[in-house]
Amino acid sequence: MNETLLTLGIESSCDETAVAVLRGTGERLSSLVATQTDLHARYGGVVPEVASRRHADVIRPMVAEALAEAGVGLDDIGLVGATRGPGLVGALLVGLSYAKGLAWARNLPLVGVNHLEGHMAAALLAEPELPMPALFLLVSGGHTELYLMRSFGDLLHLGGTRDDAVGEAYDKVAKMLGMGYPGGALVDAAARRGKAIYDVPVALPGDNCDFSFSGPKTAVRQIVERGEASMEDVCASFQKGAVAALVKKTTVALDRTNPRSLAMVGGVACNSAARQAMRELGERRGMPVAIPEPHLCSDNGLMIAAAAARKFFAAPSLAAWRNFADLDADPGWMP
Ligand code: KG4
Ligand code: ZN
Repeated sequence: MNETLLTLGIESSCDETAVAVLRGTGERLSSLVATQTDLHARYGGVVPEVASRRHADVIRPMVAEALAEAGVGLDDIGLVGATRGPGLVGALLVGLSYAKGLAWARNLPLVGVNHLEGHMAAALLAEPELPMPALFLLVSGGHTELYLMRSFGDLLHLGGTRDDAVGEAYDKVAKMLGMGYPGGALVDAAARRGKAIYDVPVALPGDNCDFSFSGPKTAVRQIVERGEASMEDVCASFQKGAVAALVKKTTVALDRTNPRSLAMVGGVACNSAARQAMRELGERRGMPVAIPEPHLCSDNGLMIAAAAARKFFAAPSLAAWRNFADLDADPGWMP
């Protein structure tokens, strides 16, 4: 059953509506992502109510399109997975309610997926045999976390950001420089053209696994306010500091937990310097490193389908997958 079951994955936690069809735990049949950045760009950030309305407009046609692209019908689907949290409550409710309705009507099991576990499942799409325990660095617009994964679904939280998430800091730096929203990829591209000539204080001091990105952000603001810096050099300086912080705390976590592999996931795992730094760190440590392709790092439906399938296969007869009437969106749900 595990190899043939088709899972429909639905993601709507923030400003991307994403739907995918997955066979087993690793075979992609289709994956569609509709981003809303055009809608939110003029506000410089995601407007929750606007996001919910767009999700509601596009979810139904996207499910139809994802099925068509996979060459299957609803009758072929055996499992539904939808993001339940964390995220924007209104946005989550759209995808989860749609999934509940669909599962109810079709008498299908439904797994409410944790978005962060979804990001982690993307690494297992890339490396199905990733040796466990694996250290996960999860870097996104909303989170900067270190987890030790003993097996999928069995996580130990080692630390996280005390203020801004790294992606959020990237987006704020882009905004300060008038580069547009979301700014992570733009800052990354500019950084590659610049020189890291400014001192941006990096990691939180101490032998802990916590992060702080408000300091680097303030440092950038001061450099920008002085007025003579080039945009590329500011971006390069910020990127150097941010990546150094990720490497430093990941190193602390490696020393503390001694895992068999390392993975980096989430939207910021698209970052060119972070990808290179993590690969080098893995090489120095002599351990395999899993970093999904960029389209699997940013929000997508495949990662949600993959997480749902893994949860389901671990306990296929669990009553919870059938009794989902009371399953509710959980905007602050941390694994
Ligand atoms: O995982 P994700 O798609 O959504 C959340 O769950 O938050 O991550 C989005 C974040 C945004 O902050 C975006 O600016 C950042 O990922 N991002 C990047 C890059 N590409 C996307 N940050 C740095 N460098 C990049 N190349
Ligand atoms: Zn995400």
